[in-house]
Amino acid sequence: MRKKIVAGNWKMNKTLSEANTLLAEIDSYVKTNDPKCEVVVGIPYLYLANAKEKYENLNIYAEDVSEHQSGAYTGEISAEMLKSVHVDGAIIGHSERRQYHKETDEQIGAKVKIALENGLTPIFCNGELLEERKSGKHFEVVKKQTEVALFQLSPEEIKKVVIAYEPVWAIGTGETATPEQAQEIHAYIRSLIAEKYGKEIADEISILYGGSVKPANAKEIFSKPDVDGGLIGGASLNIKDFGALIQTY
Ligand code: G3H
Repeated sequence: MRKKIVAGNWKMNKTLSEANTLLAEIDSYVKTNDPKCEVVVGIPYLYLANAKEKYENLNIYAEDVSEHQSGAYTGEISAEMLKSVHVDGAIIGHSERRQYHKETDEQIGAKVKIALENGLTPIFCNGELLEERKSGKHFEVVKKQTEVALFQLSPEEIKKVVIAYEPVWAIGTGETATPEQAQEIHAYIRSLIAEKYGKEIADEISILYGGSVKPANAKEIFSKPDVDGGLIGGASLNIKDFGALIQTY
């Protein structure tokens, strides 16, 4: 049975004191409300070690990871380093990394692989640009992103990957995919996995939707059969909205 997941991605937000306040609120929310879904918090590198030391039971994720093992890569953080401070996973291939840092599908695939080798859960992101959606290329784009990055993995490895479909035109714009659009492409992604690895494995993989998810629209989107939760940006930055999203399940 695949997991339902509500994952926050703070991106480049929160000072140390703000981060401490929100982590304490999330921890207390989770302890008090006993959520029906897995709760994940993706936070800036800087706060990971302290967060894990203080809240060992929270699922704390990095927002990226290096594709390299170690060495002369100034400014990079390795999967082994993340594991050494007990981080649980990493968001990989987010469209902001693809767009502003020119990450390729091959690099993203290397990041997924090295994360898995170090016992981290990757949340692999895919999704098309507005022009690609308008010209009807979204299936093709998502297929290539998924095949290049993930289809190098063994069946045992791919089972441990979480996928987050995030149409770039819906990120931070207030515009969301309709629940039907989300279901259509989630089912397509699952069918790609099924073709390559078989239906049993495809049915085990959680596929999250991301892009302007908020308490007002989450219920409808999360209720679709191939949507297993959300990767949430803006609405993960305060406990009122993030708590309400967790409560959707
Ligand atoms: O990783 C999260 C996504 O980029 C969605 O961000 O909820 O602010 O649109 P958003």
